[in-house]
Amino acid sequence: MLHPELLPPAVRKLAEAGAANELDPINLFNVTWRGPDRQIRHVVLPNELTGVNANVIVLAGRYFPSGSHKVGPAYTTLMEGELAGEIEPGLHTMIGPSTGNFGIGVAYISRLKGYPAIVIMPEQMSKERYRRIRQYGGELDLTPGSESDVILVLERTEAYKKDPKYKVLAQFELLPNYRFHRYVTGQSALEAARRYGNGRVAAFVSAPGSAGTLAAGDEIKARFPESVVCAVEPKECSTLFNNGRGTHRIEGIGDKMVTLIHNVLNTDYVMLIHDDDCVAGLELLQHRLRLVEEFAGQPEGSLAHLANLFGVSGICNVLGAIRLARHLNLGPEDNVVTIATDGFDRYPSVLDDLARRRGAVDSGQLRNWFEGIFRGGDSKELRDVRSPTEKLRLFGYKEQVWSKFGYSRSYLEQMQSQAFWDAQYDAIHRVDQDLAAGREF
Ligand SMILES: Cc1ncc(COP(=O)(O)O)c(C=O)c1O
Repeated sequence: MLHPELLPPAVRKLAEAGAANELDPINLFNVTWRGPDRQIRHVVLPNELTGVNANVIVLAGRYFPSGSHKVGPAYTTLMEGELAGEIEPGLHTMIGPSTGNFGIGVAYISRLKGYPAIVIMPEQMSKERYRRIRQYGGELDLTPGSESDVILVLERTEAYKKDPKYKVLAQFELLPNYRFHRYVTGQSALEAARRYGNGRVAAFVSAPGSAGTLAAGDEIKARFPESVVCAVEPKECSTLFNNGRGTHRIEGIGDKMVTLIHNVLNTDYVMLIHDDDCVAGLELLQHRLRLVEEFAGQPEGSLAHLANLFGVSGICNVLGAIRLARHLNLGPEDNVVTIATDGFDRYPSVLDDLARRRGAVDSGQLRNWFEGIFRGGDSKELRDVRSPTEKLRLFGYKEQVWSKFGYSRSYLEQMQSQAFWDAQYDAIHRVDQDLAAGREF
Protein backbone atom coordinates (compact mmCIF):
# COMPACT_ATOMS: atom_id res chain seq x y z
CA MET A 1 0.00 0.00 0.00
CA LEU A 2 2.94 2.31 0.55
CA HIS A 3 4.75 1.19 -2.60
CA PRO A 4 2.26 -0.09 -5.19
CA GLU A 5 5.03 0.34 -7.76
CA LEU A 6 6.63 -2.80 -6.28
CA LEU A 7 3.76 -4.92 -7.59
CA PRO A 8 4.46 -6.85 -10.81
CA PRO A 9 3.99 -4.37 -13.70
CA ALA A 10 1.15 -6.41 -15.24
CA VAL A 11 -0.81 -6.31 -11.95
CA ARG A 12 -0.13 -2.60 -11.55
CA LYS A 13 -1.40 -1.94 -15.06
CA LEU A 14 -4.58 -3.91 -14.43
CA ALA A 15 -5.13 -2.04 -11.15
CA GLU A 16 -4.74 1.35 -12.83
CA ALA A 17 -7.20 0.40 -15.56
CA GLY A 18 -9.58 -1.13 -12.96
CA ALA A 19 -9.91 2.18 -11.09
CA ALA A 20 -12.67 3.14 -13.57
CA ASN A 21 -14.89 0.37 -12.16
CA GLU A 22 -14.73 0.56 -8.39
CA LEU A 23 -16.41 -2.82 -7.85
CA ASP A 24 -13.65 -4.64 -9.71
CA PRO A 25 -11.65 -6.51 -7.02
CA ILE A 26 -8.41 -5.43 -8.70
CA ASN A 27 -9.01 -2.18 -6.80
CA LEU A 28 -7.68 -3.93 -3.69
CA PHE A 29 -4.33 -2.90 -5.20
CA ASN A 30 -5.36 0.75 -5.28
CA VAL A 31 -5.57 1.20 -1.52
CA THR A 32 -2.79 3.79 -1.37
CA TRP A 33 -2.11 7.51 -0.91
CA ARG A 34 -0.34 7.54 -4.29
CA GLY A 35 -1.82 8.65 -7.60
CA PRO A 36 -0.99 7.10 -10.97
CA ASP A 37 2.06 9.39 -11.13
CA ARG A 38 3.30 7.61 -7.96
CA GLN A 39 3.24 10.85 -5.99
CA ILE A 40 1.46 11.17 -2.66
CA ARG A 41 -1.82 12.97 -3.33
CA HIS A 42 -1.77 16.22 -1.40
CA VAL A 43 -2.22 19.99 -1.57
CA VAL A 44 -0.27 22.77 0.11
CA LEU A 45 -2.60 25.55 1.22
CA PRO A 46 -1.58 29.05 0.15
CA ASN A 47 -0.33 31.24 3.02
CA GLU A 48 -2.81 33.92 1.97
CA LEU A 49 -5.60 31.47 2.82
CA THR A 50 -4.11 30.10 6.04
CA GLY A 51 -2.74 33.42 7.32
CA VAL A 52 0.37 31.62 8.66
CA ASN A 53 3.90 31.37 7.27
CA ALA A 54 4.30 27.62 7.73
CA ASN A 55 3.44 25.20 4.91
CA VAL A 56 0.14 23.49 5.67
CA ILE A 57 0.24 20.22 3.72
CA VAL A 58 -3.01 18.26 3.42
CA LEU A 59 -3.01 14.62 2.34
CA ALA A 60 -6.10 13.91 0.24
CA GLY A 61 -8.05 10.80 1.29
CA ARG A 62 -10.94 11.09 -1.15
CA TYR A 63 -9.11 9.30 -3.97
CA PHE A 64 -8.94 5.99 -2.12
CA PRO A 65 -11.39 3.38 -3.45
CA SER A 66 -14.76 3.96 -1.71
CA GLY A 67 -13.92 7.65 -1.28
CA SER A 68 -11.97 7.78 1.99
CA HIS A 69 -8.72 6.49 3.45
CA LYS A 70 -10.71 4.55 6.06
CA VAL A 71 -10.79 1.75 3.51
CA GLY A 72 -7.11 1.19 4.44
CA PRO A 73 -7.79 0.13 8.05
CA ALA A 74 -10.84 -1.87 6.87
CA TYR A 75 -8.71 -3.81 4.38
CA THR A 76 -5.80 -4.26 6.79
CA THR A 77 -7.98 -5.57 9.61
CA LEU A 78 -9.77 -8.06 7.36
CA MET A 79 -6.55 -9.15 5.64
CA GLU A 80 -4.71 -9.71 8.94
CA GLY A 81 -7.70 -11.73 10.17
CA GLU A 82 -7.50 -13.91 7.06
CA LEU A 83 -3.76 -14.42 7.48
CA ALA A 84 -4.27 -15.45 11.09
CA GLY A 85 -6.81 -18.06 9.91
CA GLU A 86 -9.60 -16.34 11.86
CA ILE A 87 -11.63 -15.09 8.90
CA GLU A 88 -12.70 -17.21 5.93
CA PRO A 89 -14.94 -16.48 2.95
CA GLY A 90 -18.06 -18.62 2.96
CA LEU A 91 -17.97 -18.92 6.75
CA HIS A 92 -17.95 -15.44 8.16
CA THR A 93 -19.89 -12.20 8.03
CA MET A 94 -17.99 -8.96 8.61
CA ILE A 95 -19.19 -6.51 11.26
CA GLY A 96 -18.11 -2.87 10.91
CA PRO A 97 -18.72 -0.68 13.98
CA SER A 98 -18.44 2.83 12.62
CA THR A 99 -19.79 6.33 12.22
CA GLY A 100 -19.67 6.03 8.46
CA ASN A 101 -16.45 5.96 6.52
CA PHE A 102 -15.02 2.87 8.16
CA GLY A 103 -18.40 1.21 7.63
CA ILE A 104 -18.32 2.25 3.96
CA GLY A 105 -14.80 0.78 3.79
CA VAL A 106 -15.90 -2.48 5.44
CA ALA A 107 -18.91 -2.85 3.10
CA TYR A 108 -16.68 -2.12 0.12
CA ILE A 109 -13.77 -4.41 1.02
CA SER A 110 -16.17 -7.20 2.03
CA ARG A 111 -17.90 -6.92 -1.34
CA LEU A 112 -14.57 -7.11 -3.19
CA LYS A 113 -13.39 -10.07 -1.13
CA GLY A 114 -16.70 -11.96 -1.13
CA TYR A 115 -18.04 -11.57 2.41
CA PRO A 116 -21.43 -10.36 3.61
CA ALA A 117 -21.12 -7.25 5.80
CA ILE A 118 -23.20 -5.54 8.48
CA VAL A 119 -22.33 -1.98 9.46
CA ILE A 120 -23.34 -0.84 12.94
CA MET A 121 -23.59 2.92 13.12
CA PRO A 122 -25.63 5.75 14.67
CA GLU A 123 -28.90 6.65 12.98
CA GLN A 124 -28.23 10.39 12.59
CA MET A 125 -25.22 10.44 10.25
CA SER A 126 -25.30 12.03 6.76
CA LYS A 127 -27.68 10.18 4.47
CA GLU A 128 -24.99 9.90 1.79
CA ARG A 129 -23.17 7.45 4.09
CA TYR A 130 -26.07 5.00 4.36
CA ARG A 131 -26.58 5.16 0.59
CA ARG A 132 -22.96 4.18 -0.06
CA ILE A 133 -23.05 1.27 2.34
CA ARG A 134 -26.20 -0.10 0.68
CA GLN A 135 -24.71 0.51 -2.76
CA TYR A 136 -21.84 -1.85 -1.80
CA GLY A 137 -24.31 -4.48 -0.59
CA GLY A 138 -23.73 -3.79 3.12
CA GLU A 139 -26.56 -4.19 5.63
CA LEU A 140 -27.17 -1.51 8.26
CA ASP A 141 -27.80 -1.98 11.96
CA LEU A 142 -28.51 1.50 13.33
CA THR A 143 -28.12 2.59 16.97
CA PRO A 144 -29.70 5.70 18.56
CA GLY A 145 -28.07 9.11 18.32
CA SER A 146 -25.22 10.63 16.33
CA GLU A 147 -21.43 10.87 16.17
CA SER A 148 -20.91 11.19 19.89
CA ASP A 149 -23.00 8.09 20.69
CA VAL A 150 -20.41 5.58 19.49
CA ILE A 151 -20.41 3.83 22.86
CA LEU A 152 -23.86 2.52 21.88
CA VAL A 153 -22.32 1.16 18.68
CA LEU A 154 -19.67 -0.65 20.73
CA GLU A 155 -22.31 -2.09 23.03
CA ARG A 156 -24.33 -3.38 20.05
CA THR A 157 -21.12 -4.90 18.64
CA GLU A 158 -20.68 -6.98 21.80
CA ALA A 159 -23.87 -8.87 20.97
CA TYR A 160 -22.44 -9.97 17.58
CA LYS A 161 -19.21 -11.15 19.22
CA LYS A 162 -21.14 -13.96 20.91
CA ASP A 163 -21.87 -15.70 17.57
CA PRO A 164 -18.70 -17.13 15.90
CA LYS A 165 -20.20 -16.54 12.46
CA TYR A 166 -19.60 -12.82 12.92
CA LYS A 167 -16.14 -11.27 12.80
CA VAL A 168 -15.86 -7.76 14.11
CA LEU A 169 -13.42 -5.46 12.29
CA ALA A 170 -13.03 -3.43 15.45
CA GLN A 171 -11.39 -0.18 14.37
CA PHE A 172 -11.38 1.32 17.87
CA GLU A 173 -9.49 -1.59 19.43
CA LEU A 174 -7.62 -3.68 16.85
CA LEU A 175 -4.04 -2.80 16.00
CA PRO A 176 -4.08 -3.28 12.21
CA ASN A 177 -5.64 0.21 12.17
CA TYR A 178 -2.57 1.49 14.06
CA ARG A 179 -0.20 -0.41 11.77
CA PHE A 180 -1.81 0.86 8.56
CA HIS A 181 -1.65 4.49 9.59
CA ARG A 182 1.72 4.44 11.31
CA TYR A 183 3.37 2.80 8.33
CA VAL A 184 1.41 3.78 5.24
CA THR A 185 0.04 7.19 6.26
CA GLY A 186 3.09 8.11 8.37
CA GLN A 187 5.58 7.32 5.60
CA SER A 188 3.34 9.01 3.01
CA ALA A 189 3.19 12.17 5.14
CA LEU A 190 6.98 12.21 5.51
CA GLU A 191 7.41 11.77 1.78
CA ALA A 192 4.92 14.50 0.88
CA ALA A 193 6.67 16.98 3.20
CA ARG A 194 10.14 16.29 1.82
CA ARG A 195 9.63 18.76 -1.07
CA TYR A 196 8.70 21.74 1.08
CA GLY A 197 10.45 24.08 3.51
CA ASN A 198 13.26 22.29 5.35
CA GLY A 199 11.87 18.92 4.25
CA ARG A 200 11.07 17.94 7.83
CA VAL A 201 7.71 17.73 9.62
CA ALA A 202 7.31 20.18 12.50
CA ALA A 203 3.78 19.09 13.42
CA PHE A 204 1.14 16.52 12.57
CA VAL A 205 -2.49 17.34 13.24
CA SER A 206 -5.42 14.93 13.19
CA ALA A 207 -8.85 14.86 14.79
CA PRO A 208 -9.38 11.37 16.17
CA GLY A 209 -12.34 9.15 15.60
CA SER A 210 -10.72 5.76 16.11
CA ALA A 211 -7.37 7.64 16.42
CA GLY A 212 -5.93 5.36 13.73
CA THR A 213 -4.78 8.34 11.66
CA LEU A 214 -3.01 9.81 14.70
CA ALA A 215 -0.65 6.80 14.54
CA ALA A 216 1.03 8.51 11.57
CA GLY A 217 2.34 10.89 14.22
CA ASP A 218 4.27 8.01 15.83
CA GLU A 219 6.13 7.44 12.57
CA ILE A 220 6.76 11.15 12.10
CA LYS A 221 8.13 11.41 15.64
CA ALA A 222 10.34 8.37 15.10
CA ARG A 223 11.90 10.23 12.14
CA PHE A 224 11.82 13.76 13.58
CA PRO A 225 11.80 13.55 17.39
CA GLU A 226 11.34 17.31 17.72
CA SER A 227 8.00 17.22 15.90
CA VAL A 228 4.73 17.59 17.78
CA VAL A 229 1.40 15.80 17.39
CA CYS A 230 -1.89 17.54 17.99
CA ALA A 231 -5.27 15.81 18.39
CA VAL A 232 -8.22 18.03 17.52
CA GLU A 233 -11.66 17.71 19.08
CA PRO A 234 -15.00 19.42 18.62
CA LYS A 235 -15.38 22.11 21.29
CA GLU A 236 -18.82 20.60 21.88
CA CYS A 237 -17.35 17.18 22.76
CA SER A 238 -14.04 17.88 24.50
CA THR A 239 -13.30 14.38 25.82
CA LEU A 240 -9.49 14.39 25.67
CA PHE A 241 -9.40 18.06 26.64
CA ASN A 242 -11.43 17.88 29.84
CA ASN A 243 -13.66 14.80 29.80
CA GLY A 244 -16.43 16.74 28.01
CA ARG A 245 -19.12 14.70 26.26
CA GLY A 246 -21.59 16.63 24.12
CA THR A 247 -23.20 16.17 20.72
CA HIS A 248 -21.62 17.84 17.70
CA ARG A 249 -21.69 18.16 13.92
CA ILE A 250 -18.26 16.85 12.83
CA GLU A 251 -18.96 13.38 11.48
CA GLY A 252 -16.14 10.86 11.92
CA ILE A 253 -14.45 12.40 14.98
CA GLY A 254 -15.19 13.23 18.62
CA ASP A 255 -16.53 9.87 19.76
CA LYS A 256 -16.60 10.56 23.54
CA MET A 257 -13.74 8.23 24.41
CA VAL A 258 -10.03 7.55 24.37
CA THR A 259 -9.89 4.65 21.93
CA LEU A 260 -7.88 1.58 22.78
CA ILE A 261 -5.51 2.06 19.83
CA HIS A 262 -4.72 5.70 20.67
CA ASN A 263 -1.09 5.94 21.76
CA VAL A 264 -1.57 8.92 24.04
CA LEU A 265 2.18 8.95 24.83
CA ASN A 266 2.75 10.63 21.48
CA THR A 267 -0.05 13.18 21.66
CA ASP A 268 1.46 16.53 22.68
CA TYR A 269 -1.48 18.90 22.34
CA VAL A 270 -5.25 18.70 22.30
CA MET A 271 -7.07 21.50 20.49
CA LEU A 272 -10.75 22.40 20.43
CA ILE A 273 -12.52 23.65 17.31
CA HIS A 274 -16.12 24.83 17.19
CA ASP A 275 -18.12 22.36 15.07
CA ASP A 276 -20.03 25.00 13.11
CA ASP A 277 -16.74 26.68 12.09
CA CYS A 278 -15.97 23.43 10.26
CA VAL A 279 -19.38 23.23 8.56
CA ALA A 280 -19.29 26.93 7.58
CA GLY A 281 -15.63 26.54 6.53
CA LEU A 282 -16.72 23.73 4.21
CA GLU A 283 -19.40 26.00 2.75
CA LEU A 284 -16.66 28.59 2.04
CA LEU A 285 -14.22 26.15 0.41
CA GLN A 286 -16.89 24.27 -1.50
CA HIS A 287 -19.51 26.81 -2.62
CA ARG A 288 -17.90 30.25 -2.14
CA LEU A 289 -14.42 29.78 -3.51
CA ARG A 290 -14.52 32.89 -5.70
CA LEU A 291 -15.28 35.05 -2.67
CA VAL A 292 -12.62 33.29 -0.61
CA GLU A 293 -10.09 34.03 -3.35
CA GLU A 294 -11.11 37.67 -3.11
CA PHE A 295 -10.87 37.74 0.72
CA ALA A 296 -7.44 36.11 0.54
CA GLY A 297 -6.29 38.47 -2.24
CA GLN A 298 -5.79 35.60 -4.66
CA PRO A 299 -6.39 35.57 -8.44
CA GLU A 300 -9.63 34.12 -9.73
CA GLY A 301 -9.46 30.36 -10.12
CA SER A 302 -6.33 29.97 -8.01
CA LEU A 303 -8.18 27.98 -5.31
CA ALA A 304 -10.42 26.02 -7.68
CA HIS A 305 -8.42 22.84 -7.01
CA LEU A 306 -9.69 22.85 -3.39
CA ALA A 307 -13.30 22.14 -4.42
CA ASN A 308 -14.50 18.61 -3.55
CA LEU A 309 -11.35 17.88 -1.55
CA PHE A 310 -12.78 18.33 1.93
CA GLY A 311 -15.43 16.98 4.22
CA VAL A 312 -16.30 18.59 7.56
CA SER A 313 -13.53 16.80 9.49
CA GLY A 314 -10.99 17.79 6.82
CA ILE A 315 -11.81 21.44 7.50
CA CYS A 316 -11.47 20.73 11.23
CA ASN A 317 -7.99 19.31 10.63
CA VAL A 318 -6.99 22.27 8.46
CA LEU A 319 -8.15 24.76 11.11
CA GLY A 320 -6.24 22.75 13.73
CA ALA A 321 -3.09 22.87 11.58
CA ILE A 322 -3.42 26.63 11.01
CA ARG A 323 -4.03 27.43 14.68
CA LEU A 324 -1.20 25.18 15.87
CA ALA A 325 1.22 26.75 13.36
CA ARG A 326 0.19 30.18 14.66
CA HIS A 327 0.53 29.11 18.30
CA LEU A 328 3.99 27.63 17.74
CA ASN A 329 4.99 30.60 15.61
CA LEU A 330 6.17 28.32 12.80
CA GLY A 331 7.90 29.90 9.81
CA PRO A 332 8.24 29.31 6.06
CA GLU A 333 10.74 26.48 6.56
CA ASP A 334 8.31 24.53 8.75
CA ASN A 335 5.85 21.93 7.52
CA VAL A 336 2.60 21.05 9.26
CA VAL A 337 0.94 17.94 7.85
CA THR A 338 -2.72 17.10 8.19
CA ILE A 339 -5.35 14.94 6.52
CA ALA A 340 -8.58 15.31 4.56
CA THR A 341 -10.11 11.92 5.35
CA ASP A 342 -12.83 12.12 2.71
CA GLY A 343 -14.22 14.56 0.14
CA PHE A 344 -17.38 16.56 -0.38
CA ASP A 345 -19.42 13.74 -1.95
CA ARG A 346 -20.84 12.67 1.42
CA TYR A 347 -21.76 16.16 2.69
CA PRO A 348 -24.20 17.96 0.31
CA SER A 349 -26.99 17.23 2.82
CA VAL A 350 -24.90 18.81 5.62
CA LEU A 351 -24.52 22.07 3.67
CA ASP A 352 -28.23 22.01 2.76
CA ASP A 353 -28.89 21.84 6.47
CA LEU A 354 -26.52 24.76 7.12
CA ALA A 355 -28.42 26.83 4.52
CA ARG A 356 -31.70 26.03 6.29
CA ARG A 357 -30.26 26.92 9.70
CA ARG A 358 -28.52 30.15 8.73
CA GLY A 359 -30.72 31.41 5.87
CA ALA A 360 -29.32 33.65 3.13
CA VAL A 361 -25.90 35.19 3.82
CA ASP A 362 -24.42 38.22 2.02
CA SER A 363 -20.79 38.80 1.12
CA GLY A 364 -20.23 40.97 4.22
CA GLN A 365 -21.33 38.11 6.46
CA LEU A 366 -19.24 35.67 4.47
CA ARG A 367 -16.19 37.89 5.00
CA ASN A 368 -16.88 37.72 8.75
CA TRP A 369 -17.12 33.94 8.51
CA PHE A 370 -13.81 33.84 6.69
CA GLU A 371 -12.06 36.04 9.25
CA GLY A 372 -13.56 34.21 12.22
CA ILE A 373 -12.86 30.76 10.86
CA PHE A 374 -9.47 31.07 9.17
CA ARG A 375 -7.98 33.76 11.42
CA GLY A 376 -9.78 32.81 14.65
CA GLY A 377 -8.90 30.49 17.53
CA ASP A 378 -7.89 31.11 21.06
CA SER A 379 -4.97 29.87 23.18
CA LYS A 380 -7.44 28.71 25.85
CA GLU A 381 -8.61 26.12 23.35
CA LEU A 382 -5.22 24.43 23.26
CA ARG A 383 -4.07 22.10 26.03
CA ASP A 384 -0.49 20.88 26.41
CA VAL A 385 -0.73 17.19 27.35
CA ARG A 386 2.99 16.36 27.43
CA SER A 387 3.41 16.07 31.20
CA PRO A 388 3.26 12.73 33.06
CA THR A 389 0.18 13.98 34.95
CA GLU A 390 -1.63 14.59 31.68
CA LYS A 391 -0.63 11.17 30.35
CA LEU A 392 -2.01 9.54 33.49
CA ARG A 393 -5.25 11.46 33.08
CA LEU A 394 -5.62 10.19 29.50
CA PHE A 395 -4.69 6.61 30.49
CA GLY A 396 -7.35 6.84 33.18
CA TYR A 397 -10.00 7.76 30.59
CA LYS A 398 -8.85 4.89 28.41
CA GLU A 399 -9.09 2.42 31.26
CA GLN A 400 -12.59 3.61 32.17
CA VAL A 401 -13.89 2.71 28.70
CA TRP A 402 -11.96 -0.44 27.89
CA SER A 403 -11.97 -2.30 31.18
CA LYS A 404 -15.75 -2.31 30.68
CA PHE A 405 -15.23 -4.17 27.41
CA GLY A 406 -13.13 -6.90 29.01
CA TYR A 407 -9.54 -5.65 28.56
CA SER A 408 -7.34 -6.55 31.51
CA ARG A 409 -5.50 -4.00 33.58
CA SER A 410 -2.15 -5.61 32.67
CA TYR A 411 -2.86 -5.28 28.92
CA LEU A 412 -3.90 -1.66 29.38
CA GLU A 413 -0.78 -0.98 31.44
CA GLN A 414 1.47 -2.31 28.68
CA MET A 415 0.10 0.48 26.52
CA GLN A 416 1.79 2.98 28.85
CA SER A 417 5.14 2.07 27.29
CA GLN A 418 6.30 3.08 23.82
CA ALA A 419 7.84 -0.41 23.52
CA PHE A 420 4.29 -1.85 23.27
CA TRP A 421 3.53 0.33 20.25
CA ASP A 422 6.88 -0.29 18.58
CA ALA A 423 6.38 -4.06 18.91
CA GLN A 424 2.95 -3.70 17.29
CA TYR A 425 4.52 -1.73 14.50
CA ASP A 426 7.27 -4.31 13.95
CA ALA A 427 4.58 -6.91 13.28
CA ILE A 428 4.14 -5.41 9.79
CA HIS A 429 7.22 -7.31 8.60
CA ARG A 430 5.62 -10.62 9.56
CA VAL A 431 2.30 -9.57 7.99
CA ASP A 432 4.04 -8.60 4.75
CA GLN A 433 5.90 -11.92 4.60
CA ASP A 434 2.76 -13.96 5.29
CA LEU A 435 0.86 -12.00 2.68
CA ALA A 436 3.58 -12.47 0.07
CA ALA A 437 3.73 -16.20 0.86
CA GLY A 438 -0.01 -16.53 0.23
CA ARG A 439 0.04 -14.82 -3.16
CA GLU A 440 0.31 -16.50 -6.50
CA PHE A 441 2.71 -13.96 -8.01
C1 LIG B 1 -14.77 11.87 8.01
C2 LIG B 1 -13.82 11.32 9.01
N1 LIG B 1 -12.88 12.14 9.50
C3 LIG B 1 -11.99 11.72 10.43
C4 LIG B 1 -12.03 10.43 10.91
C5 LIG B 1 -11.07 10.04 11.99
O1 LIG B 1 -10.09 9.14 11.55
P1 LIG B 1 -9.52 8.08 12.56
O2 LIG B 1 -10.61 7.07 12.81
O3 LIG B 1 -8.37 7.47 11.85
O4 LIG B 1 -9.14 8.78 13.80
C6 LIG B 1 -13.00 9.54 10.41
C7 LIG B 1 -13.09 8.17 10.91
O5 LIG B 1 -13.98 7.43 10.59
C8 LIG B 1 -13.91 9.99 9.44
O6 LIG B 1 -14.85 9.20 8.93
